[in-house]
Amino acid sequence: MLRLQKYLAECGVASRRGAEVLIKEGRVRVNGETIREMGVQVDEDNDVIEFDGARVKPQKKMIYIMLNKPEGFVTTVSDDKGRDTVMSLVSDIPVRIYPVGRLDYDTEGLLLMTNDGDLTYKITHPKNNVEKTYVAEVSGNINMDTITRLRCGVVVDGVRTSPAKVEVIGATRLGTKLKITIHEGRNRQVRKMFEAVGCLVKRLTRTEEAGLKLGHVPLGRWRKLTESEINMLKKIGTGKKTSAQNSRRIFNSKNGGKTAGGRTKNSGGRGRKTK
Ligand code: URA
Repeated sequence: MLRLQKYLAECGVASRRGAEVLIKEGRVRVNGETIREMGVQVDEDNDVIEFDGARVKPQKKMIYIMLNKPEGFVTTVSDDKGRDTVMSLVSDIPVRIYPVGRLDYDTEGLLLMTNDGDLTYKITHPKNNVEKTYVAEVSGNINMDTITRLRCGVVVDGVRTSPAKVEVIGATRLGTKLKITIHEGRNRQVRKMFEAVGCLVKRLTRTEEAGLKLGHVPLGRWRKLTESEINMLKKIGTGKKTSAQNSRRIFNSKNGGKTAGGRTKNSGGRGRKTK
């Protein structure tokens, strides 16, 4: 139980003093009864509190972090096989958060975690085409023809993948290092795409998602998103362009309207906290 004016302040209606004024003015009701005197206690779970006829509820504090997930962790809240979950890497966060989408047990890199259900929905819904970029270290023969096939789409589990951006960024002891950007989220998609062209992924790291970059967050650690990163994510699905989309547009126009994959746009085809 807590005092009505404290409850109203926690809901962001007014300061405690301001809430006292509103109560005196008869603008606050508890379970349908107008309250004008001070000292009324409310049960925040069961009482219905209204201000000017509209129900008020406490604002939930939203948390948004990016974790650099190491391999050997599942991206679920619990695991029936007893494997380590990413929750153990964020146990120092006092609020219950959960992973946004998934990364395989053996994939590393950027994993968003939040308690904001609306944002989770927007990021994971296929209609929003949120881009994810991975660095893949693969063995096998990578030539221009293989890259073109990956860019144009390969058949995975009987369905062709959407066009992807693919570029070679280096050579490793294991083979070739590539950067691949996709906007679908099918199960083990990147691994299966490389499998379809005869390459084995030896190491996979997500480096970007929805315009966010993993940057220098150490493996197994996390950091809070900045205000501008959160605002950028909140634009997803609203029709407003994020700054990441704007810079892609500028990049594409400088490249004669071609995507990084060399296709013309619309051409059809189809932790611990780091301190
Ligand atoms: N593609 C994969 O193969 N694995 C991941 O974890 C993410 C994308």
